[in-house]
Amino acid sequence: MDQIQLRTFSDYEKAYAASINDPVKFWEEIAAAYSWQAPWHKTLEWEFETPAVKWFQGGRLNITENCLDRHLKERGADIALLWEPNDPKEQEVRLTYSELHNEVSRFANVLKAKGVKKGDRVAVYMPMIPELTIGVLACARIGAVHSVVFAGFSSNALADRINDSQCVCVLTADGMYRGSKALPVKATVDEALEQCTSVESVIVVRRDGRDVTMVEGRDCWYHEAVVEVDTDCPAEPMDAEDLLFILYTSGSTGKPKGVVHTCGGYMVYAGYSFKNVFQYERGDVYWCTADVGWITGHSYIIYGPLLNGATTLMFEGVPTFPDAGRFWDVCDKYGVNQFYTAPTAIRALMACGDEFVDRAELGALKVIGSVGEPINAEAWHWYHDRVGRGNCPVVDTWWQTETGGIMISGLGNLSPQRPTYAGRPLPGIQPVLLDAESNEIEGDGVEGYLCIKHPWPSMLRTTYGDHERCKNVYFSNYEGYYFTGDGARREEGMYRIIGRVDDVINVSGHRFGTAEIENAINASPLVTESAVVGYPHDIKGQGIYAYVIVDGATQDVQAVRTSIIDTLVAEIGAIAKPDVIQIVPGLPKTRSGKIMRRILRKVAEGDTTNLGDTSTLLDPSIVEIIKADANQLRK
Ligand code: PRX
Repeated sequence: MDQIQLRTFSDYEKAYAASINDPVKFWEEIAAAYSWQAPWHKTLEWEFETPAVKWFQGGRLNITENCLDRHLKERGADIALLWEPNDPKEQEVRLTYSELHNEVSRFANVLKAKGVKKGDRVAVYMPMIPELTIGVLACARIGAVHSVVFAGFSSNALADRINDSQCVCVLTADGMYRGSKALPVKATVDEALEQCTSVESVIVVRRDGRDVTMVEGRDCWYHEAVVEVDTDCPAEPMDAEDLLFILYTSGSTGKPKGVVHTCGGYMVYAGYSFKNVFQYERGDVYWCTADVGWITGHSYIIYGPLLNGATTLMFEGVPTFPDAGRFWDVCDKYGVNQFYTAPTAIRALMACGDEFVDRAELGALKVIGSVGEPINAEAWHWYHDRVGRGNCPVVDTWWQTETGGIMISGLGNLSPQRPTYAGRPLPGIQPVLLDAESNEIEGDGVEGYLCIKHPWPSMLRTTYGDHERCKNVYFSNYEGYYFTGDGARREEGMYRIIGRVDDVINVSGHRFGTAEIENAINASPLVTESAVVGYPHDIKGQGIYAYVIVDGATQDVQAVRTSIIDTLVAEIGAIAKPDVIQIVPGLPKTRSGKIMRRILRKVAEGDTTNLGDTSTLLDPSIVEIIKADANQLRK
């Protein structure tokens, strides 16, 4: 794969030009760096109307052969997976490529023994332990479609996701450690499964040793099952366009949707983008602090690094346990060369003071990355100066669950940097800024809706079970373009992401639809109606601000708050807890009944002097009450 690495800025410029002039030829050359069981006959067929996008049609492959088998001869003894436990006193795990290959093959055989077949969906609800990576790869090995659900989601959220794609198997653990806490995991699965009929088997990894209920005939222990099978499991031949995984993500309407990625294109792009953004060299230790429950973990803890024969570090814990120096201690312990985290973590650690980062060496760091939300200038400089010691490029990587891989970013130290700007598109990526009439805005110093005008190999193919939704959400707003949902600014060819322009809020890098949170809040028996908006939050990027109308008979404000929080935790999970709950007598609605969110956003931002035109409101006086109460709440 070394042949796909760009080594200078001029390499990048040439590759970019080539990828625009002849995308098919460009991607054919990149794809040739991988191992295919059968060559493809058509590189690309596409239209953005239905939409229908197919890459490398006819090609046969298995991504795990590319992640594992392909490296065995030359790198079998290299470390593939490093695992750092929550408690620094516990022993770490180091798995070589050949050991990881064995573990994946064994577990793949367990899945087969449980009756899981190619095309079946497997839900993975796990803490950040090696068996999570092994489980994901084991699914891919036999052609089962993994659907990883972040273990912070509630049983209801898990049940929705299991039911939406009719998973037949769940991979989970007894419990999990997070900082000083041990939390239940299997019990949450058990609760979820009361609402699911499709699941036939549950495989449980022992992590914290707590008592769990094992359902006879359905549940088994991972450590018992793996000793009963052999370690040889040939990789299932997959069509390039067969499903590799589903990952649920929130949108502006309805329930989270299952974003679908397929085998060939995803593999080609995950490997290519990893190599070039992080400028990974053999022997480097790379660490991405994300959870595998999100796309960042899929593409840049598991697939991207392993496709390149890299050493990827997986961390079970949290940045502040045992203290706020944990990230930097881990970097020093393993000599981390590339470090990839989220602005929220950077801001939170920055707020803890410099002594933690200053006491570390961090001498091996070469590239430091940021992902998930805009990084503000102050956080960028702290990251660059304190963590990177002023001599590591910051790669601010813009991308999405739907894009499968990094789309706009600097490439290691090849690219010029500009704080708060993600940078230039990767080769093969054609971003445009559109105005409200779908015209492309040319030139520099301009802002618009960020769209992509040509397919790239790892783009989503559909939303599981509902292709119409994929069309409506991503391909209907601006005909002929993929719409990202983000607004952006372009300056000297570099893009700065301004943020979402739809009703999606980004809290600590986690996406929530405002409608999704409102539906959850409305499930509280004390609530009549609610409206949720995002507002700027010093650490989380955006906080959740909920305006709630309570049932007329309810007097006890504290009871309402508790009920709302409990309901949200049950419906979605603790990550969706609102930062502010304001109880209001009504919502600012137009005569046609539409909530004027613009006003609610302004009030949430603390800007109550400049609310714009409120004359179309059914009852403008409601705004005065909301304003006065918000000011009160802030005191
Ligand atoms: O708004 C953008 C923001 O995160 C959204 C995608 O969220 P998700 O699918 O959960 O994936 C997050 C990790 C890839 C985008 O629409 N976002 C992501 N990266 C950046 C960003 N905003 C600004 N700068 C970034 N680097």
